[in-house]
Amino acid sequence: MVTTEHAGMDDGHPAAANNKVSPASVAPPVEGLTLGPGLVLPVEAVTETFAILAKRGAGKTYTAAVLVEEMMGAGLPVVIVDPVGVWWGLRSSADGTAEGLPVVIFGGDHADLPLAETAGELLADLVVDERVPAVLDLSTLSKSAARRFMTDFAERLYHRNRDPLHLVLDEADAFAPQRTDPGGQRLLGAIEDLVRRGRARGIGVTLITQRRAQQRRPHPGRGSHRPADDRAPRRRRDR
Ligand SMILES: Nc1ncnc2c1ncn2[C@@H]1O[C@H](COP(=O)(O)OP(=O)(O)OP(=O)(O)O)[C@@H](O)[C@H]1O
Ligand SMILES: [Mg+2]
Repeated sequence: MVTTEHAGMDDGHPAAANNKVSPASVAPPVEGLTLGPGLVLPVEAVTETFAILAKRGAGKTYTAAVLVEEMMGAGLPVVIVDPVGVWWGLRSSADGTAEGLPVVIFGGDHADLPLAETAGELLADLVVDERVPAVLDLSTLSKSAARRFMTDFAERLYHRNRDPLHLVLDEADAFAPQRTDPGGQRLLGAIEDLVRRGRARGIGVTLITQRRAQQRRPHPGRGSHRPADDRAPRRRRDR
């Protein structure tokens, strides 16, 4: 199974302000999420929790991008929280010449729509009500602004969401402040709710971090045409 063969993806256009995506209604049933040869997760993984732990540059973001592509190919909504500003690359193909995944980019240098630090609840409502696949690029916000946004977003998403949704937290350390930090306790509580108890509300989470970085480089096992010097994850195949 290759995600680019899913009809649902071909029907979508890259994000626009009024682009309402209803992936579940257009994608055909799929058997699983193929991460590599012999590594297929059931679609129910959308509500599970994963951690991608590896040292810097080992391929953590790339690996998560494979999972995101598979989930979106299966018609499952995915939201990526990106503190470093690399995930916008999902919107173009691996060689940059064709369309990528129909995600809306909020914030950052490649935004479709701006992301204000006060818009956490608003964006959570948008995700819950419209099931919009999105990249929340926090890279141009200050650390305190990013945490404010994330606290509001996480709390609202946890309280309102009920249908399957997968949340990717890249550089998840950014959302694990010390309890003694101003506002740290509230943000930690909100993230813990999502990670530990989100499944009951349809929410799965992939945490990406360098902590406990002792693993060797992961090998998703599928070819990529992505330029090695380009760190933005991109859709791996052209349509
Ligand atoms: N399985 C793979 N096949 C081909 N290229 C890969 C693979 N995994 C990673 N890469 C490439 O290796 C480089 C580093 O990958 P990536 O950015 O995903 O690492 P990372 O662990 O997220 O890094 P950082 O710790 O800096 O965030 C990128 O150029 C990426 O395209
Ligand atoms: Mg990374």
